[in-house]
Amino acid sequence: MKKYRCVVCGYIYDPAEGDPDSGIAPGTPFEQIPDDWVCPVCGVTKDDFEPLEDDDIKMEEKVKPHKQVRNADMEYNEIVPGVFYVGAEHWDRRLFDELIPLPDGTSYNAYLIEGSEKVALIDTVDPEMIEVLFDKLDRLGVEKIDYIISNHAEQDHSGAIPYILEEFEGAKVVTNAKCKNMLIDLLQLEEDNFIVINDGDELSLGDKTLKFIFTPWVHWPETMSTYLKEDKILFTCDFFGSHRATNRLFVEDEYKVLEDAKRYYAEIMMPFRKHIQKNIAKLEDYEISYIAPSHGPVYPRPELIIDAYKDWISDRVENKVLLPYVSMHESTKEIVNFLYQELTARGIKVIPFNLIETDLGHYAIELVDAATVVFGSPMVLGGAHPQVVYAAYLTNALRPKTRFVGIIGSYGWGGKLADQIKSLLVNMRSEILEPVLVKGLPKEEDFDRLIQLADLIAEKHQSLK
Ligand code: FEO
Repeated sequence: MKKYRCVVCGYIYDPAEGDPDSGIAPGTPFEQIPDDWVCPVCGVTKDDFEPLEDDDIKMEEKVKPHKQVRNADMEYNEIVPGVFYVGAEHWDRRLFDELIPLPDGTSYNAYLIEGSEKVALIDTVDPEMIEVLFDKLDRLGVEKIDYIISNHAEQDHSGAIPYILEEFEGAKVVTNAKCKNMLIDLLQLEEDNFIVINDGDELSLGDKTLKFIFTPWVHWPETMSTYLKEDKILFTCDFFGSHRATNRLFVEDEYKVLEDAKRYYAEIMMPFRKHIQKNIAKLEDYEISYIAPSHGPVYPRPELIIDAYKDWISDRVENKVLLPYVSMHESTKEIVNFLYQELTARGIKVIPFNLIETDLGHYAIELVDAATVVFGSPMVLGGAHPQVVYAAYLTNALRPKTRFVGIIGSYGWGGKLADQIKSLLVNMRSEILEPVLVKGLPKEEDFDRLIQLADLIAEKHQSLK
C-alpha cells in the first residue's frame, strides 16, 4: 500500500500504521480514509496529500521533515532548522492597550535565527515577560546575538530591546529610520545602537538572508515585515496576528485561529484597510511557506490567513444588521425587539448587542462585514446613553465598511440623541437613514415607522447584490 505525504507540512500517512488518534485503523489504505479526515499535524484535507514514490521514501528515511522533528522536540519550538520561536505566552492578560479585551490572553512572539555567521533575534517581548525570553535563549545555549530586528516599535515587541542590548554586548538594532526614531523616543536608545535599513534591503547571516519589506500601517506607520529568503518565512509582527496564548507553535485548529485573527483584525487593523490592501499586494511577489506573526501561532499554510484578510479588506459586506443598544426602562428594548423581528422576517441576519453586557470585541468582529449598524438608545441627560456614545465613537474609530447606519430610540420630552450619534460618525462613509425616535413606549404609528425602516434596510441590502 502506498504512503502519502502532506504537501503542506511533510507528515507522511503510512497505511501500515493508520492514524488511530483520528479513528483510522492500521492497515487502512489512503484511498479508503473518509473525506473529512485531516492531516493530524497541520489540519489540511486529503486533497493536500500526494503519493510518495519509492525514491521519496528512500529520501524520507535519510531526512526527517522538519515539522516532524519539531513535533518530536517541542521543547525548542523549531520552525525549520535554525529558526526558533523564543516568545512568551501571556495567559492571564485580559486587556490590551487598556482597551481591547483578550478572552484567550496573548503572546509576544520573538524568533531566533541562527545563520552560519550571524545570529538574529526577530522582535522581542513585552518587558514584563523578559525572563521568559532570557530563559528560552539560555536553553538554546545562545551566547551571542548580532542583530535585533525590530519590525515594530510598540513596546509589546520592542520593550525588551534594552535588556537584550545589555545582555548581548555588540548587538545592533536593525530597523527602518521611522522605527529607529520611535525607539529612541519610547525606549531612550542611542543613535549608535542602530543599523538603519531601507525597503528591500538584505542582511546576510551567512547561509541565511533576511530581506526587509516595508508594510506601513499594520499597526503603526513604521511597521515592516522581514522575509527569511532561504526558508521562505515571513515575519510580520502585528500583521496577520491573533491575540491568543497557546503553547502550540503552529496553527492547528484553523476555525478558532481565524476567529481570533478576525477579532484582532477588527480591533487593530480595520482602520488601516486601504493600507493593508497595498501591503498584501506587495507580498504577492514573495513565495511564502510560513507566516510567523508576533501574536498567536505560526501559519504553516499562509493562504489561510492571506485569503481571510483579502475578504475582510474587500468591499464585500454581508446581509447583516448589528443592533448595539442600551435600554433603561424597556422602551428602547421594545423598539429594538420589534425591529429585530421585522428584519428577521425579511431574511436579514440580525445581531443585537446589549451594550451593558456585551464584549465589544465581539461587536468589532461583526463590524468587519456587516452592511448596516442601527444604534438604539434612550434619551438621557439630553443625549444618547453614554454606553451608546462610546459604541458609536469606537465604531467611527475602527472605520468599518458599514454602508448604512440607523438610529432608533425612545425619549421622554426631547433632546439631541440622533444629532449626537451622527456627529460621532464623521469617519464613516455610511448613508445615515432617517432616525426613528419614539416618545415613551412605541405606539401603532411608531411600529409603522419601524416597519418602514426594516423595508428600507431590506431594499438597501438588495441593492448590494
Ligand atoms: Fe503587538 Fe502594535 O503591537
